[in-house]
Amino acid sequence: SHLHTIHPLAFRAAPQLKSVMLTDNDLSTLPVRVFSPLTMVEEIYLDGNQLEIIGPDMFEGLSGLLVLGLSRNKIRNLPSDMFDGLTNLFLLNLGRNNIKKLAPTMFHSLTKLKRLRIYHNELEVLEAGIFDRLVNLEALNLQHNQIKTIPPRVFWSLGNLRELTMSSNRLEGVPHKSFYNMPKLKKFTIYSNPLLSLPEELMGHMPYITQFYLYDTHLTTVPGNLFANMSGLQDLSFHLNDWLRYLPPDLFCCLPNLKKLSLRNNSLQDLHPNLFSMLTTLETLYLHNNKLKTLPDSIFQKLTLLVTIDLKNNNLNTLPGDIFLSNTALKALTLSGNPWDCSCTIRGFARWI
Ligand SMILES: *[C@@H]1O[C@H](CO)[C@@H](O)[C@H](O)[C@H]1NC(C)=O
Ligand SMILES: *[C@@H]1O[C@H](CO)[C@@H](O)[C@H](O)[C@H]1NC(C)=O
Repeated sequence: SHLHTIHPLAFRAAPQLKSVMLTDNDLSTLPVRVFSPLTMVEEIYLDGNQLEIIGPDMFEGLSGLLVLGLSRNKIRNLPSDMFDGLTNLFLLNLGRNNIKKLAPTMFHSLTKLKRLRIYHNELEVLEAGIFDRLVNLEALNLQHNQIKTIPPRVFWSLGNLRELTMSSNRLEGVPHKSFYNMPKLKKFTIYSNPLLSLPEELMGHMPYITQFYLYDTHLTTVPGNLFANMSGLQDLSFHLNDWLRYLPPDLFCCLPNLKKLSLRNNSLQDLHPNLFSMLTTLETLYLHNNKLKTLPDSIFQKLTLLVTIDLKNNNLNTLPGDIFLSNTALKALTLSGNPWDCSCTIRGFARWI
């Protein structure tokens, strides 16, 4: 409605209001305590305005508030006690603002909060203890910030979390055991971070995650047990990591449901003979756009359900004649873009073709 001001007494006459929607206006300031007559209010939406500063007592006393939307504004700073007393809040949306810092006690009243959205801001650090009281939180969205480091155990109270998104930040590493105690997690993103290495013991049990992407990092390798607790994975895309050269032999040890594995566009040079030996349910395997020079004879032996394999754009000269002998379900094999050496060494493989 292009509203750019609200009268300080605008809500005096309507103390029974439950929902206030001021979304997509041109508000750049709000009068002091303008909402305070609304003792029964449950939802306040201020998303999509021009707010830069919000007074510390703006939401004081609104203990019945369930939803507070402040996304798509120009907020830089939030007073540390701004949400104190909002003990019933279940959704807080701070996404798409210019927030650089959040005080460590900022969310400590919000013990019923289920969704906390802080995506697309300018956060550089997460303070230790900041999420400690959010024991009911189900979704935490932190993607597209400038977060460089996270303190140890910062997520450890979040045992009810279903969704944690932290892609597109500036993380170069994460502390040991950071993602422990989230057994209900269904969606987890950490791609597009300049990760240099990951610690041994990072992921706790997260059996409900079926899809996981790890791409656009600076990883050269990863610990062998990285995916060991992600036993429900069906689709793993560990691709587009320019620096990734080496995969430990037991990396895919514990993925009894995996159907699709993409390792394309990494810098893999050789693969351990047992790398895929536990992936008996695998149907699709992408290895294209790597630097593979040779492949061990038995590398695909246990993949009896494999339907598609892509090996294009590698450095393969030849392949063992019996490399695909046990892949009886195979329907599509791509071999183009390799410097095949058409001498006697390739005879066995040519015969198989
Ligand atoms: C898997 O999760 C369990 C419990 O969360 C933990 O004790 C174990 O160390 C984890 N394993 C790895 C490899 O992180
Ligand atoms: C993957 O690698 C190929 C060949 O090097 C390149 O042409 C393509 O752009 C890469 N894909 C992405 C998404 O970077």
